[in-house]
Amino acid sequence: MTKKKKITIAVVYNHAGDDIYEKIRDVDPDTLDFEPEYNIKVATVTEEYEAIADALRGQGYNVNILNINEDIQVLVDLLRKKPPDVVFNLIEFYRDDPALEHLVAGLFALYGVRFTGSRPFTLALCQRKGMTKQLLLANNVPTPRYKLLTEPRLPGRHGLRYPLIVKPSREDASSGVEKGSVVYNFEQLNERVKRTFEEYKSPILVEEFIEGRELHVSVLGNDPPEVLPIIEFDFSELPSDHPNIISYDAKWNPLEESFHRVHSICPAKLSRRVEKKVKAAVIDAYKITGCTDYARLDLRLRKDNKVFVLEVNPNPDLTEGVSFMESAEQIGFGFGETLGKIVEFALSRSAPSIPILQKGKDTTKSQKKIK
Ligand SMILES: Nc1ncnc2c1ncn2[C@@H]1O[C@H](COP(=O)(O)OP(=O)(O)OP(=O)(O)O)[C@@H](O)[C@H]1O
Ligand SMILES: [Mg+2]
Repeated sequence: MTKKKKITIAVVYNHAGDDIYEKIRDVDPDTLDFEPEYNIKVATVTEEYEAIADALRGQGYNVNILNINEDIQVLVDLLRKKPPDVVFNLIEFYRDDPALEHLVAGLFALYGVRFTGSRPFTLALCQRKGMTKQLLLANNVPTPRYKLLTEPRLPGRHGLRYPLIVKPSREDASSGVEKGSVVYNFEQLNERVKRTFEEYKSPILVEEFIEGRELHVSVLGNDPPEVLPIIEFDFSELPSDHPNIISYDAKWNPLEESFHRVHSICPAKLSRRVEKKVKAAVIDAYKITGCTDYARLDLRLRKDNKVFVLEVNPNPDLTEGVSFMESAEQIGFGFGETLGKIVEFALSRSAPSIPILQKGKDTTKSQKKIK
């Protein structure tokens, strides 16, 4: 009988340059002009990825961690010379561009290496918010009414009802979502659209702003996908000049007051009927966009309890205790345990069958045969 070999995992991420969270460590909280609710010394990007690698080691896997540091060759070397059993894919952009995220995942497929999370097509689709919304609407999954602008102009009779929110359509991690993104009249709309075009790639999304509750819903697995306990955000403490949204600052910037004034509640208090409706929309959207293994969907619940899917995140933040992992913990799945489940989903898929790049001519001496 052959001895069972330890599964090897490469935790792969991309981070280059300074880490702002390292700099924030030098800030004295007493110098802030508001009372911080949360610790401003949050983990650095590298520490967060190290924590994921450590938690996987705790599950008994043999784990290496690799920062490709904006150099795809580093990844090519790994895949050619020492392919792991599975890549834990934490790449969110390449060359600073989120639109290239899916191409990196494409390399894993071309090299015949299993990888966690969604397939390249889904990663690419969900980066294009307009296209995703179109697909959702075509399948009766409600999403706010919108216009996709390819130039910084729209007629006064645009047919959308104020308030509106203006946001980049090909960014994520709340880039370009700010206090001023919510507009209440045509003048503000034009001003905001112009500014967004100056800073972000076309097209730009103008969407009806859904006043009401915000829900983040995480999904785990494939056959069938499981909806984890729902998170609601409490906006009641936000300063009066900040609309009820999770702006970039509210999400990521501990030096801004809004970061300390939005609070998560898990599980969200919803009636059975509403919860059922939310879950149905979430599962539909997860399946329609082709998500695999895990994802987080952001939704709004209007005052009349109509559900709207804002976006599908097939590669959500996996930091311990927040967002996706907050929901997992609520149902009793530990951090390492949840990461382990994601690895097992990837392992249960058959490896991409044509590892074409490995079969070609290769002058590298130390190349290993694929297992
Ligand atoms: N149509 C809308 N109605 C109400 N709020 C909205 C709408 N669109 C966006 N928001 C607010 O802006 C936030 C960020 O928007 P969205 O989730 O679309 O952007 P993102 O950059 O992809 O965010 P993430 O950080 O989740 O990847 C939402 O969490 C929500 O608070
Ligand atoms: Mg979002």
